[in-house]
Amino acid sequence: MSDVTNAVVIYESLTGNTAMAGQMIAAELTRYGIETTASPITAPDLEALSKAQLVVVGSWVDGLFLFGQKPGRDWRLKKLPFIDGKLAAVYCTYALEKGKTLDKLDTIVTQRGGDVIGGYAIKRSELETGVEEFTGRLLSSLDSREKASA
Ligand SMILES: Cc1cc2nc3c(=O)[nH]c(=O)nc-3n(C[C@H](O)[C@H](O)[C@H](O)COP(=O)(O)O)c2cc1C
Repeated sequence: MSDVTNAVVIYESLTGNTAMAGQMIAAELTRYGIETTASPITAPDLEALSKAQLVVVGSWVDGLFLFGQKPGRDWRLKKLPFIDGKLAAVYCTYALEKGKTLDKLDTIVTQRGGDVIGGYAIKRSELETGVEEFTGRLLSSLDSREKASA
């Protein structure tokens, strides 16, 4: 059981995959005892965000399929409310080639004050397994941080 009890997922989504993944991540974290809500970057749940110890930020991969990938509509993500002092994790959904999208998302979230502890790229054709893998890694990373600081 983690010391983190509240989290939020904030996502940017064009056609719904990243939103769907965000809802699934929130349900999965909640199932493991971390009360989590998911909301779009254009209407973040500010009350939940202020309570959250962990902020998960998701976006889709925008690029030319072979190069130039970045988080979709990244200007919205760059306006994320400041999250100083909170843990963070990032994810993206993609079709074929994610490039350096996760690193770029990590940089954006770090610039908003988040302490990014992990990231994962979820293939849009495998949302369910991707979400399971990401949340599993996230939970064990939270666990090992707590053991290390105990
Ligand atoms: C304009 C545009 C550019 C895209 N570029 C890439 C790309 O370079 N690589 C890739 O793997 N997927 C690319 N995709 C696919 C999306 O990243 C993928 O479908 C994602 O799951 C969409 O998330 P959403 O449904 O939340 O918008 C692109 C999609 C769009 C609309």
